[in-house]
Amino acid sequence: MNQIERLPAEIRSPEPGSVALVTGGNSGIGFAVAQQLLDRGVTVWIGARDIGKGQRAAKELGSTARVVRLDVTDPSSVATAVELIGELDILVNNAGVNPGGEDLTGTTIEQLRTAYETNVFGLIAVTQGFLPALRRSAHPRIVNVSSGTGSLTWNSSPNPQFDWEQVQGGGLAYRSSKTAVNAVTLLTAQSLGEGFKVNALAPGLRRTNLIAGMSVGGDPAEAATGAVRLALLPDDGPTGALWSWDGSRAPW
Ligand SMILES: NC(=O)c1ccc[n+]([C@@H]2O[C@H](COP(=O)([O-])OP(=O)(O)OC[C@H]3O[C@@H](n4cnc5c(N)ncnc54)[C@H](OP(=O)(O)O)[C@@H]3O)[C@@H](O)[C@H]2O)c1
Repeated sequence: MNQIERLPAEIRSPEPGSVALVTGGNSGIGFAVAQQLLDRGVTVWIGARDIGKGQRAAKELGSTARVVRLDVTDPSSVATAVELIGELDILVNNAGVNPGGEDLTGTTIEQLRTAYETNVFGLIAVTQGFLPALRRSAHPRIVNVSSGTGSLTWNSSPNPQFDWEQVQGGGLAYRSSKTAVNAVTLLTAQSLGEGFKVNALAPGLRRTNLIAGMSVGGDPAEAATGAVRLALLPDDGPTGALWSWDGSRAPW
């Protein structure tokens, strides 16, 4: 849909009164995205499936952060959150799980279902739920937190950077669910048109609960800067693309 290779260096200031929702905003990358949007003056709702965790995160973020109970796999929870939040300009679909498993023979159908239920179907359900509110926004933005491990181009390169043996970044269930997130991002961007900016983010390997136990990964706050750039894209910014956290374009 567009061919630019790098996001604009300058981050647009949000319009006064801009409202964002970060799903899974109680920890890791989502928490850092919430913090950085708050710092820029955006009104931020943290979606948390465990309201206690959400409230603790909001307390840490300061008085202006808002919390909503939101389990992306539960349609009634999504509907209640839509009702409560009302107007929305920025949706950061960040909630995600890695149910484990390895390659084809080392993955169960249950692990696949778990990954797809949250990472794909949940993301779609939340996007559908908030679409009427986003359509009312003057600058609607959707950021889907994906993963480089879902990039078919990277995975099919002669030297794939994600090693099956180490299963760094997950197995078949997690990685293929993120490939699906990429496809959903592109098709959603195409169907919503240029008024919307719908992009996916490859945040890089980060030290969060998702990869607990692994001794690798960078600061989630660094990845969050990429999400914030996509959340605050100017009206002539790109849509329908996958971006690395540093603002460079990543291949599907
Ligand atoms: N860390 C990495 O290296 C890495 C790399 C590539 C992509 N990502 C992506 O980054 C996103 C954030 O993950 P993270 O690394 O920051 O891990 P994290 O700290 O575990 O954050 C994941 C968040 O998603 C929430 N969540 C899980 N299932 C949910 C559901 N059904 N409804 C609502 N919220 C749900 C979790 O809630 P609980 O606290 O209740 O579990 C948590 O708040 C994910 O989409 C992940 O796939 C991470």
